[in-house]
Amino acid sequence: MIDRQFKRLALLAATAMVGLTFYVMAQEAAPADFTVATTADYGTYLVTPDGHSLYLYVKDEGGVSACVDACANNWIALLAGDDGVATAGEGVDQSLVGTTTRADGGVQVTYGGHPLYTFKRDTAPGTTRGQKLGGEFFLVSPTAAAIEDKLPEQQADISESDLDALKATGAAVFAANCAVCHGDNGEGRIGPALANNSIVGNTDFIVERVLNGFIEHGMPPFKALDDQQIAGVITFVRTSFGNDYGAVLPEEVSTRR
Ligand code: HEC
Repeated sequence: MIDRQFKRLALLAATAMVGLTFYVMAQEAAPADFTVATTADYGTYLVTPDGHSLYLYVKDEGGVSACVDACANNWIALLAGDDGVATAGEGVDQSLVGTTTRADGGVQVTYGGHPLYTFKRDTAPGTTRGQKLGGEFFLVSPTAAAIEDKLPEQQADISESDLDALKATGAAVFAANCAVCHGDNGEGRIGPALANNSIVGNTDFIVERVLNGFIEHGMPPFKALDDQQIAGVITFVRTSFGNDYGAVLPEEVSTRR
């Protein structure tokens, strides 16, 4: 009797192990197309398995991608694996996962009906250079909502008087270095308008752009300025000309050099 029970248990255990092996193999055969990451800045949002940020495009309607041609050169559709099935990893609501067939034929992964994209300039995992770009691309929360802003506790921690000093430095740097191309009031000249321009709210983007410029497009690098000057001019732009995005601190510039 005991012997029989033992045999049955052993059989059960063996079955479970075979099951587990199949499960593990199945996992290997269909790696997740996307999963989630958590950062102090944006909380939890969708990323590729290797950590590249995923974005939704506000112009996509009815689950169909409107990002084609030139747009698709910068925003790379997240395609379902060879099986054409979208597979999500841990932390993702499986019931929101789907696919859409692109005009160019690929099967793109959707989440909550939003086709997902990576951004060409997020060359390293963990960067969020595409966040809020043009007010049209946003990181995506696990509930499939666009993440519009940084978490409140990530707004720069700075005293009123330090903020005033930073802005004063920034105003002088702007007048001496930026106004010639972006206009005295950020209205734009040979450079684009910085007034009412949501792109300046994207910390990764603006720090990178001011440090390194975009020489092919006529924006020179400003690496030669010190951290206080760069943080100052960015803070000045972010809190002037109709923009309201708060300070960027010298330490934030320093870590991005
Ligand atoms: C010689 C002209 C020139 C100067 C000087 C200059 N910029 Fe620019 N800037 C440009 C051009 C041209 C672009 C557009 C580049 C591109 O295609 O992204 C640009 C883009 C930008 C952008 C991105 C705007 C957007 O909508 O994409 C920001 C932010 C910016 N500049 C900030 C500054 C700041 C701050 C300074 C001063 C420290 C500065 N620029 C000095 C020419 C200039």
